Amino acid sequence: MYRSHTNGELRSEHINQEVTLSGWVQKVRDKGFMIWIDLRDRYGITQLIFDEERSSSALMNQAKTLGREFVIQVKGTVIERTSKNPNIPTGDIEILVSELKVLNEALLPPFTIEDETDGGEELRMKYRYLDIRRNPVKENLIFRHKVTQEVRNYLSNKGFIEVETPYLIKSTPEGARDFVVPSRMNEGQFYALPQSPQTFKQLLMIGGMDKYFQIVKCFRDEDLRADRQPEFTQIDCEMAFVEQEDILNAFEGLTRHLLKEINGVEIGEFPRMTYDEAMKRYGNDKPDIRFGMEFGELNNIAQHKDFNVFNSAELVVGIAIPKGNSYSRKDIDKLIDWVRRPQVGALGMVYVRCNDDGTFKSSVDKFYDQKDLAKWVEKTGAKKGDLICVLSGETNKVRAQLSALRMEMAERLGLRNPKEFAPLWVVDFPLLEWDEETERYHAMHHPFTSPKPGQLELLATKPGDVKANAYDLVLNGNEIGGGSIRIHDKETQALMFDYLGFTPEEAKAQFGFLMNAFEYGAPPHGGIAFGLDRLVAILGGQETIRDFIAFPKNNSGRDVMIDAPAPIDEMQLGELSLKLNIKTD
Ligand code: AMO
Repeated sequence: MYRSHTNGELRSEHINQEVTLSGWVQKVRDKGFMIWIDLRDRYGITQLIFDEERSSSALMNQAKTLGREFVIQVKGTVIERTSKNPNIPTGDIEILVSELKVLNEALLPPFTIEDETDGGEELRMKYRYLDIRRNPVKENLIFRHKVTQEVRNYLSNKGFIEVETPYLIKSTPEGARDFVVPSRMNEGQFYALPQSPQTFKQLLMIGGMDKYFQIVKCFRDEDLRADRQPEFTQIDCEMAFVEQEDILNAFEGLTRHLLKEINGVEIGEFPRMTYDEAMKRYGNDKPDIRFGMEFGELNNIAQHKDFNVFNSAELVVGIAIPKGNSYSRKDIDKLIDWVRRPQVGALGMVYVRCNDDGTFKSSVDKFYDQKDLAKWVEKTGAKKGDLICVLSGETNKVRAQLSALRMEMAERLGLRNPKEFAPLWVVDFPLLEWDEETERYHAMHHPFTSPKPGQLELLATKPGDVKANAYDLVLNGNEIGGGSIRIHDKETQALMFDYLGFTPEEAKAQFGFLMNAFEYGAPPHGGIAFGLDRLVAILGGQETIRDFIAFPKNNSGRDVMIDAPAPIDEMQLGELSLKLNIKTD
């Protein structure tokens, strides 16, 4: 038996008991005549003691050979500590060791295995198994397990069945590139890894499963960010015989349950906002509504003066930064530099200082008098002491730029409190989205999303105006889930593919299986998928999903620990009928 107890378990009621413990050496304190060792495992830390008076000299010598991260087993007696440590649950006791066995030696770890470590991110990724020994990472993984378990329990209790769908499939269009897998047995042919189980869950509805969920890996070859990984996990869900309202209610229930069970936060009905309203008020389809700084559109009051920058703009829009009038001229110049960075892309910024005496001082005083500026104040909801920042230009671009500024300022002002939770449904997304690069419309969610009732006709005349039965769940400014009511008849689906630029042959080749299935009695259905990594990170009060994934990829999509991706040898390439055509200089 390696252990009778874990290292987080022993208390004063165990005093005088003989115990066996195993774990890692966290710390050795050697005073010569006395040696203390912190023994660690997943459950906690227990202090071991060796001393000249009570331990044999052989044991003392053996203890002196131990180094950090050695794996050891000890037998000993639980005794009361002379100086107690109120900071740890086992702090009242220690183990007077009678037997010590080294189970495995360890090299000196390349960074300290403490809550605050000296290891940089890349180094910790390379030795992720050591990083996982640290409390913050370990706690995040345990937290993820708790969330996952709550999800499974909740959905199972509501009658959802977890069904696994295949990973080796054919491409599903979710807007990113596919990862592909060559098939050895089918020369020159490839599987694609699923970007989501979208078509399979629809087929499960046609198969009569009625309520499905799956905690499932998805793969997307897209540019990475703090909230994106090339492989990530969805809580994927689908229901038959439902309308949008049924889905929103069902998954608002799940989210509310998680907030209550995991975070102890009770939240009433989630607010809802249309996509158009979210874009107008926050310049963003995933607004963080924990704080204000709402957009004030100024076209009517700021145009038709002599300021040509505004006159020629499609949109003039501003926000009021709380207490921003305290910024020096230099601070404001820095802010202007910030919005002009290529990542934000504004050409410039106009500002208005709202003085405490009720007067205004703007960077465009030449064109606007106090009465004009008072209207800007009204539109942006600015108060005395605030700073109004105004951007102008093409609507979509300006909204994105001002939204970036809004989020940045909220971050700087500490308005994004990770302990506060503000969920929001964003509904009525456009069905289609114009893509500048390919110069055609793409499905904004995916091509299986149904248009709002009565809007199908608009497709021919005003495709950009058609709204979909599609919704996102936003939590603290992050899109944690998205879904839609699906098309469930062959004709509408064929029409959609047509509008999206598929020829009937292409549609048949790629989605013939789904179109065929629609002919065998497809029920009305719809669903949603949550990004589990994002959900867990946000419930855990953070936004970087890497910290909640056991073995994540870095920003270039690499696993630096196992060093993947990596070349494969000629023989393997040959078996797969692949020939590399990479030019080397
Ligand atoms: P969607 O593409 O919106 O919908 O994805 C659902 C949710 O998955 C999360 N997510 C990601 N998380 C981490 N890394 C990524 N690269 C990544 N991409 C997406 C987001 C997102 O809201 N089949 C549809 C769902 C449906 O219609 O039911 C789908 O996949 O939190």
